[in-house]
Amino acid sequence: LEVDVSKPGVTIPAEFFGLMTEEINHAYDGGLFAELIQNRTFQDPRPERRGPGGGGPGGPRDRLPIHWSVLGTGKAAIDDADPVSPALPLSLRLDFAGGESGVANDGFWGIPVRPDATYTATFYAKAAGGFDGPVTASIRLDQGDAVVASSPSPPITGAWKKYTVKLATGPDAPTTAKARFVLSADGAGSVAFSLVSLFPPTYQGAPNGLRPDLMELMAELRPKFIRLPGGNYLEGNRFADRFNWKKMIGPVESRPGHMAPWGYRSSDGFGLPEFLLWCKQLGAEPILGVFAGYVLNGDHFDAGSPEMAVYTQEALDEIEYIAGPADGAWGAKRAADGFPEPFPLRYVEIGNEDWFDRSGSYDGRFTQMARAIREKYPHLKIIASAPVKSFRPDLVDDHFYRSAGQLFGMSSLYDPRPSGSPPPAFAGGGWNGRQPDGVKTFVGEWATQEGRPTPNLNAALADAAFIMGLEKNSDVVPMQCYAPLLVNLNEADPARGYPRAWQWNTNLIGYDALRSFGSPSYHAQVMLAQNKGDVVLPARFEVPPAPAGEEPARGRIGVGSWRTEVEYADLSVTAPDGRALLNSEQARDVSRWRSAGGDWTVRDGSIRPAARDAETWAFTGDAGWTDYTLRLRARKVRGS
Ligand code: AHR
Repeated sequence: LEVDVSKPGVTIPAEFFGLMTEEINHAYDGGLFAELIQNRTFQDPRPERRGPGGGGPGGPRDRLPIHWSVLGTGKAAIDDADPVSPALPLSLRLDFAGGESGVANDGFWGIPVRPDATYTATFYAKAAGGFDGPVTASIRLDQGDAVVASSPSPPITGAWKKYTVKLATGPDAPTTAKARFVLSADGAGSVAFSLVSLFPPTYQGAPNGLRPDLMELMAELRPKFIRLPGGNYLEGNRFADRFNWKKMIGPVESRPGHMAPWGYRSSDGFGLPEFLLWCKQLGAEPILGVFAGYVLNGDHFDAGSPEMAVYTQEALDEIEYIAGPADGAWGAKRAADGFPEPFPLRYVEIGNEDWFDRSGSYDGRFTQMARAIREKYPHLKIIASAPVKSFRPDLVDDHFYRSAGQLFGMSSLYDPRPSGSPPPAFAGGGWNGRQPDGVKTFVGEWATQEGRPTPNLNAALADAAFIMGLEKNSDVVPMQCYAPLLVNLNEADPARGYPRAWQWNTNLIGYDALRSFGSPSYHAQVMLAQNKGDVVLPARFEVPPAPAGEEPARGRIGVGSWRTEVEYADLSVTAPDGRALLNSEQARDVSRWRSAGGDWTVRDGSIRPAARDAETWAFTGDAGWTDYTLRLRARKVRGS
């Protein structure tokens, strides 16, 4: 290994390391957002009931919103008369039938209980039918219904009012998540509840704040920016579900919530102000993604349409909300939300992964929005989410979710290209290298996808190699962020009809209601971010070439990078019990091989990926998809 300290090269930008996630895997609700009540406004859709105890539709439980149950003799039902605010149309009415009754919420896969902890419960309540007593808020263990913290509210009146109750566990309380939050009373008549909330202590004690252990893990990553709010979460599945930031600011009572694209509803308690709180508490600047008129079902509005005029204005207003003076129209709303100081904002990204828009409308949509942003905020750097031709962006956002072998190979992706080599092409989510015309690259989502739901050590090694390749080329890739960042690890609970908490396979930080940890890749990134260099020094490392020959592998064969082409000389497939399923002659007749990342074709004695991210192979036999042993003697044609 040779390092030449006399020839400092590329200066690594201060903002090289950042964070990115969105409302996926219960990253905010049931994750970073410290709220403990799931379905606190009773609007979450009930997923299909599955498995034993599922019960199917009908039955008294179905009148209750998901994650809520009734205790005691009373009856509870959803009520849509006289809502607490126009944004929160439903309340939960509890009718007493003599004796103690209550409604219980089981949280995000449990309510975390710890000794000597103080919780803040808030709820709106309204009494009817002669009820005028207090409501007791308590945390109770699932086993034996033992109360670990309990406190009464003031007497409930006949008009909607917000009540706040502090709950404290004692020194002997267990550490467990097998617990529920209960609102109960003893009496006659009824009481209705709305916006029921329970917070444990939050990071730096902020109201409506964030989960301390996750913030501490993230702080170790020394992020200089947060790419927000997504991802697919920016776009939404339908127009009604886009990231409509104007409905996600102000008091939580005025936020209706919306359906997130990953199969569950977002309460929007974690809205735009909380994204900013996250930035502020970590000392990171926002990289703002603005909605650009395209949603995940493929619907879009063209440039020049009345709708695009609305979205363009929304983007300008959003920039003002974040970075404008506190006495401006939108800056004042930010100040009212608790942030009088404008946030530093230097980058705005228009849309997300707009290469999925096959209509070709992105160029026009982008150009319309980019011109308006440039005119009003000339200092802002504009990021395109796909190639464009009518307006030169400052950066383009490339995304790479790959196997370990592929990401190792891609550590040289952005190396300067030899003179005379063809210009890089755009395929799928990324340019095949440095972009033409000196436009820089923001690698706004990337990960080695190996290990689930958090990556394994091999993935961490590939991630480290990839980051170092980006760092080496940070003159053209000034910023990068792994994705997704957060995953709630809870599995499905078929007995209750609850789905799995996570949707994405490889995620950096895992947690449940009580615990959290960084994956191997997290630790690799902590190591790199905490030891970030100022400049790149030229280094040479001689590696002896690997001997050619036969390479047995089980199940998966990594072939280096997506640039690799392999010619096979001999290929056989052996079942786990040792039976020969295919010899090399028969293998030549197999016309189509499938892979996890895409299709491979076997033709003319060579195997080629039909999709560039194809990497693992499986053979379809009578038994369907299974693991086989493949023996492959291959000759590298090009690539690594
Ligand atoms: O990070 C998960 C998803 O991957 C993001 O929502 C999307 O932008 C990408 O396809």
